[in-house]
Amino acid sequence: MLDTTALNQQRNFFEGHAAIWLFGYGSLIWKADFAYLERRPAYIHGWERRFWQGSHDHRGTPEAPGRVATLIRAKDSICHGMAYRIAPEVLAPLDVREKNGYLREKVPLTFMDEKGNGTEQSEGLIYLASDDNPAFLGDAPLDEIAQQIANAHGPSGPNRDYLVNLAVALRELGAKDAHIFALEQQLSQF
Ligand code: BEZ
Repeated sequence: MLDTTALNQQRNFFEGHAAIWLFGYGSLIWKADFAYLERRPAYIHGWERRFWQGSHDHRGTPEAPGRVATLIRAKDSICHGMAYRIAPEVLAPLDVREKNGYLREKVPLTFMDEKGNGTEQSEGLIYLASDDNPAFLGDAPLDEIAQQIANAHGPSGPNRDYLVNLAVALRELGAKDAHIFALEQQLSQF
């Protein structure tokens, strides 16, 4: 397994900043088990969420990996999530938690108002698992992805819970996400 912890600690895009906006698009939306100063619904433009990253250490095992969220580039799309304003030292434990292929990337993000409209923008940070990391699984028929998720379990719990919690959180945000809601539908048959 590639361990990205040390690589991420060199990726100091916000050196000298007192606080950083971290954009969560996966488990960070519904599982913020870190200290944050503020959180705001937000989106990033030019990206779509996909269950294309293997999880060998959280929602699956090396023998039977689960699948978790990453992002792919999609020029005209937006991906909704939750932005957290954090102190820079909060990133070190997240680098360890997300060490299976995720790298810090700097992205522009747009905050949402209570009516669901985009308001002001800021630079933020995401953890991205790109298609060249060894844990990347990529695309597969939706029913096969759902079946893999239904069968996978790891130290952080059933893979199913990750997907269901994410779908619930996205509905609460009023977010559209065809891939996630179609997968949730497929999962209900297993
Ligand atoms: C996220 O929720 O944004 C996330 C969580 C873990 C790894 C990568 C991204």
